Amino acid sequence: MSDQPVLLRVFRYDPGVDPAPRYERYQVPWREGLLLLAALKYVHDNLDETLSFRDYCCGCSWCASCLMTVDGKGVQTCSRPLKPGESLLVEPLWGFPVIKDLAVDFGLSIPTSEGVFRKMEGTLIRKEKRGEAAAGRRFPGA
Ligand code: FES
Repeated sequence: MSDQPVLLRVFRYDPGVDPAPRYERYQVPWREGLLLLAALKYVHDNLDETLSFRDYCCGCSWCASCLMTVDGKGVQTCSRPLKPGESLLVEPLWGFPVIKDLAVDFGLSIPTSEGVFRKMEGTLIRKEKRGEAAAGRRFPGA
């Protein structure tokens, strides 16, 4: 199992063109240290250049621009290691409008059970429920 490829089931949707979203499957050769964002880059560079997503910004789990929904959870894909033979469902970050495929528009606030999250200057900032100033915390679970 050590050299099994990674299997990615990836959300695809161009709102200006496609009548509905669909999912595409891609196999990515596994290697030691392979991260999910690098696997998506492999797909783009070698298998399907039409796949859209936000490429590396900081690359070190700081800016949150690479957040996507992976198997139903918000994940910073630049720091998500992959195991050989792993199979993942990769979708755009839930709650944000899709620009194309995995790229979303972070320029709005989304209500959650913990308050309102807003993408500003590369960081997701939590506003307190009472409507006071932003608390400056990172996205939970990221
Ligand atoms: S690219 Fe900045 S957190 Fe992933």
